[in-house]
Amino acid sequence: MGSKVIFLLLTGALTAYYIYSPIPDGVEEKWKLMLADSFFRSLSHLADFTELVGLKDYMGVMMFITFAERVPLSTDNNVTVTESVFNGVEVVVYEPHRHSNGELRRAVIYLHGGGWCLGSSRMGPYDLLARRIANELNAVVVSVEYRLAPAHHFPVQFDDVYGAVKHFLKDATLAQYSVDVKRIAVSGDSAGGNLAAALAQQLQQDPEQQVELKAQALLYPALQTLDLNTPSYQQNAHMPILPRTLMVRFWSEYFTTDKSLYEAMMTNSHNSLESSHLLKFVNWSVFLPETYRLRYNYTAPSTGSSDNSKTISAITDPRASPLLVEDAQLKVLPRAYIMTCEYDVLRDDGIMYATRLRRAGVQVTHEHYKGGFHGAMMFTVWPTDFQIGHRMLNNYIGWLDENL
Ligand SMILES: *[C@@H]1O[C@H](CO)[C@@H](O)[C@H](O)[C@H]1NC(C)=O
Ligand SMILES: *[C@@H]1O[C@H](CO)[C@@H](O)[C@H](O)[C@H]1NC(C)=O
Ligand SMILES: *[C@@H]1O[C@H](CO)[C@@H](O)[C@H](O)[C@H]1NC(C)=O
Repeated sequence: MGSKVIFLLLTGALTAYYIYSPIPDGVEEKWKLMLADSFFRSLSHLADFTELVGLKDYMGVMMFITFAERVPLSTDNNVTVTESVFNGVEVVVYEPHRHSNGELRRAVIYLHGGGWCLGSSRMGPYDLLARRIANELNAVVVSVEYRLAPAHHFPVQFDDVYGAVKHFLKDATLAQYSVDVKRIAVSGDSAGGNLAAALAQQLQQDPEQQVELKAQALLYPALQTLDLNTPSYQQNAHMPILPRTLMVRFWSEYFTTDKSLYEAMMTNSHNSLESSHLLKFVNWSVFLPETYRLRYNYTAPSTGSSDNSKTISAITDPRASPLLVEDAQLKVLPRAYIMTCEYDVLRDDGIMYATRLRRAGVQVTHEHYKGGFHGAMMFTVWPTDFQIGHRMLNNYIGWLDENL
């Protein structure tokens, strides 16, 4: 009897510990988020454990979510779905059936999130998103299955995306899919938003490239790794879905498996003298509105002591941190939609990019969700579907429809 009671008490306490996490009242459907988050945190603890005892690396265990959410690719009444290979990179192509009297169609290149380490075009929410865009916009959607860390580090993820997109943008490929060269957008969420922003910049700099993108839609993107103590990193360090520890882990594993970078990034001491002249591009005391600055005092990240010399060039590379370019490289960019969430470590990356793009003269639609949390737009499938996710998805598709 006694042991049963103790067991019940322990289970109860553990369950309460796992499920209860201090989530601000401003977050919508707070209890549902706590439940969803308790699952993620349990998996993360398990992953820490298996890595510690040498069974399986952390990301290998976290990939469980990616596999669990995988859906078979299937053609439906409205959209034909095919797997293809563009320049050696796997892609999934969604083509709408709608007849359009031989008119050319719009296209959206979509890059999934998952911190460059997780995720897949084939996950239910991404599949649903691509189908909706294809069907509702009568657009071709190309979802790129780029390779992931820790098996592959930067710039493999970016290069995969870039290579696939260059193939898609060739005259012959666009003709094959009946795509209007003047109506192509790039989009992505989180790490995919990072890749999308970097892609838009690099295409502009590429002398071989003639196609101009019409739009870029960045959903709670990661845009810089120099300052991992912006007010949003501080405010939301323990928020569900993407706590600061996990984001820092994603950044460091994007670059290297060497744990010393993770340690340095956790204390925001990973910069070197080489990055000091770039800090002005991520100076949040200049690029954030007062409401977000007020409660925090700006201190620049320390420079000079880091010995991660191998990774320094990656840290300062605009293909990894699109915020690190001059205004001259921003002003030539296509119009932008930037979605940010209040309770997200990446909030300030998105806000700073919106500010910088606007000041450079780019047309920007910045949609901020006051009750939003990181990743919310992908929480649209039962049992983890959130009203805010559906609203975001509708607003995002609406913007694409009007601006592409
Ligand atoms: C096909 O499109 C129509 C009209 O948009 C929609 O009502 C229907 O649900 C779609 N079917 C599928 C399988 O998505
Ligand atoms: C950041 O901006 C403030 C002014 O708001 C300035 O005093 C400071 O030197 C800047 N720091 C960097 C690293 O650009
Ligand atoms: C910011 O600096 C002011 C003046 O030095 C100080 O009173 C305040 O406590 C500081 N705020 C934070 C959040 O550190």
